[in-house]
Amino acid sequence: MSSVTEVELGEGRIIRITGPAKVDVVTGRILAVGSKFPAGSSLVIHKFRSYGIKVLTQSKVRITLGEGAKVEEARNGEEVVDEWLRVVEYILRKCAERLCKILVVGPPESGKSTFTAFLANYLREAGVRVGVIDGDVGQEDILIPTTVALTEVTKPILWLRELEPQLFKFVGCISPQYCYPESILAIKELVDEAVKLGFRAIVVNTDGWVGTTSGIEHKLAITRWIKPDIVVVTDREVFDYLSKCIDGLVEVVYTSRPTVARERSREERRELRTQAYRKYFSRGRIRRVKLGSIGILNIRALAGRAIPADEIRKLLEISDSDLSKVAYSSKYGDTVFLVTKEPVDISLNQNEAGKVAVLNLRDLRGAIVGLLGERLSDVGIGVILDADLESQEVTILTPWDGAIRGLVVGKVRLSEDFEEIGRVSKCIL
Ligand SMILES: Nc1ncnc2c1ncn2[C@@H]1O[C@H](COP(=O)(O)OP(=O)(O)OP(=O)(O)O)[C@@H](O)[C@H]1O
Ligand SMILES: [Mg+2]
Repeated sequence: MSSVTEVELGEGRIIRITGPAKVDVVTGRILAVGSKFPAGSSLVIHKFRSYGIKVLTQSKVRITLGEGAKVEEARNGEEVVDEWLRVVEYILRKCAERLCKILVVGPPESGKSTFTAFLANYLREAGVRVGVIDGDVGQEDILIPTTVALTEVTKPILWLRELEPQLFKFVGCISPQYCYPESILAIKELVDEAVKLGFRAIVVNTDGWVGTTSGIEHKLAITRWIKPDIVVVTDREVFDYLSKCIDGLVEVVYTSRPTVARERSREERRELRTQAYRKYFSRGRIRRVKLGSIGILNIRALAGRAIPADEIRKLLEISDSDLSKVAYSSKYGDTVFLVTKEPVDISLNQNEAGKVAVLNLRDLRGAIVGLLGERLSDVGIGVILDADLESQEVTILTPWDGAIRGLVVGKVRLSEDFEEIGRVSKCIL
């Protein structure tokens, strides 16, 4: 069921629309997410999102509301549009003549991604070439969760999901605390590449991990390595911490978060991640790669030196029947890896505990994997469908159809329907 209403709106008014909704501008001009929408244009608001829309000149708009959608007049102090406009105008002035890097930091649901889009739209319409990096591995909108991605903003957008990635880096997890260095390095590499691509402004969105000391330190580490000109913070407490630490080194700007917004539950956030995986992998086809012919960066069991059965007997106390279940064994550093054909429970000499890992390559099924091309470049993402030691083959679903030179296995596993089903076992990675 949808309802359509046509309303006349006076200049300066701010309305808030929660999706699913479509807005057609019949006459006049409105501002949504930093972008001006003239008569004849329209915008679509997703069911999980809400926006404050400002009327720039007396306008007539036709609003189509889907199920659960609503439109309301923003009350005094509720909407951030005017404050955000002041911040982006300030950034535009600051960045008028030279390359400018802006980092956006804040808690979950505080408007980081929307502010990133708002700033990018505003700068683009002011004639600035803008590159956007979505550095939020958990809610990555430009590509898929587990990655960070860069692209140019060439059209008005309400949501970073409306963009197609130009470059990306596979990070491999959806919580930066589990891939701390990679998440920083990936953003840093993309910023460097954005500089090479000649963008005048580079806007970097970050994850919402700021509720703990480590989370804030992670943002400080990103700041240190990407060297932004301005850090925009959507939370007063986080602003205070960052200003205290980097005062005099980087300009830190506070801006309010929307006080009334469509919040997403854990399930809805999960659903959004699933939708992103589905969209990407629906274009996938099955690829088979030979184990010996490619580089594999982080499957520990395959990284070591293969060892024969009699050497295992010397290293471990193991019965012949248990040994017969082992398909492959290797030694890697101080650890012996036993890859079994079936999930088995091999009991090991207590003294050796911690030095032996027993695993089944089936545990790799569903693992999300970064595909590397020439010179370790990130070329695609895949899902491992199977890994077989007898045929020495890894079967991968991926939309990437060029050469695969290497694999980096991520920590997330997906079901056949591309829903997250837990982590890849620690023994494997
Ligand atoms: N001006 C606004 N008025 C009302 N709602 C808004 C406004 N700006 C953004 N929102 C809504 O607030 C919610 C949070 O915004 P956004 O997704 O940008 O935050 P975030 O900090 O990036 O969240 P996440 O932690 O999930 O990445 C979204 O539903 C968004 O549509
Ligand atoms: Mg976000």
